[in-house]
Amino acid sequence: MDNIVVRTRRLTKRFGRRTALDDLDLDVPAGVVLGYLGPNGAGKTTTIRLLAGLIRPTSGSAMVFGFDAADQYDALQRRIGYLPGDFVAYPGLTGAQYLTYFAHLYGGVPTERIDLLAKRFDLDLGVRIGALSRGNRQKVGIVQAFMHDPDLLILDEPTTGLDPIMQREFRELLRETRDAGRTVFLSSHVLSEVEAVADTVAILRAGRLVTVQSVQDLKDRARRRLDLTFADVPPLERIRCVPGVRELTVDGRVAHLSITGSTATLIKAVAPYDVTNVVSHETDLEAAFLDYYSSEG
Ligand SMILES: Nc1ncnc2c1ncn2[C@@H]1O[C@H](COP(=O)(O)OP(=O)(O)O)[C@@H](O)[C@H]1O
Ligand SMILES: [Mg+2]
Repeated sequence: MDNIVVRTRRLTKRFGRRTALDDLDLDVPAGVVLGYLGPNGAGKTTTIRLLAGLIRPTSGSAMVFGFDAADQYDALQRRIGYLPGDFVAYPGLTGAQYLTYFAHLYGGVPTERIDLLAKRFDLDLGVRIGALSRGNRQKVGIVQAFMHDPDLLILDEPTTGLDPIMQREFRELLRETRDAGRTVFLSSHVLSEVEAVADTVAILRAGRLVTVQSVQDLKDRARRRLDLTFADVPPLERIRCVPGVRELTVDGRVAHLSITGSTATLIKAVAPYDVTNVVSHETDLEAAFLDYYSSEG
């Protein structure tokens, strides 16, 4: 039995002549939080709607727990929690009425579970949804997605409209969900939103998957800024030859530079010289991520 929860093969969706998603091959193992990242228009929502069985692929397949997302959604409904990006609920219903309706669809959910989630997000379930702020409406969507304790959560930019405290609470809920062995497919257009919770990131650009990496690898490969202080004049030419070194400048006896990848070669290159101090700055993950967004191929 393999432990792949989401498996797409050559998954493609076209709207007229526009290809929203192109040949996506992606495996998401159980118990993983996958951050699905890409700029606006990259195809994140399209992917999510395919996984949630709301639209049919033009070609290729999306399998969830071994079921075809487009054809066998009935088998999946109870096991999936889905939060659409454009969450709109019936404005005339109160949060409680709306969630009760969904609880029936899911085959019953303990009221205490709903109340606990609502309380956690400071959400008043007695208020008509139409009268709620955007952030509070989003919370109704969050409760609806999590309340039946699904095995897979498919969340489309879930923190939209939430204030920072609620965003933190939400990240905490995601961690608990993952620690309980559930799988999370989480889309976002900002890295910082998923960095703290995702194990793996998949980066999408213009409908194509650019890379899938562990967050740790992304950090390791990110550009790192270093300041090397020498007892004498810095050996500039020596440093310049080291693979991965960029943005090299000198200020007196200090060489400032940025480097991608391992710093081992750099350390060896400067070892014959008298290095009196090394300052390593925080890796610029955002910059590494933006490289993926913008670089061709
Ligand atoms: N129903 C649709 N009809 C036509 N074009 C669509 C439709 N849905 C999405 N698109 C197009 O597909 C591309 C991907 O959109 P989307 O999946 O919403 O991206 P993201 O969620 O990453 O911002 C965009 O160019 C968008 O305009
Ligand atoms: Mg979207």
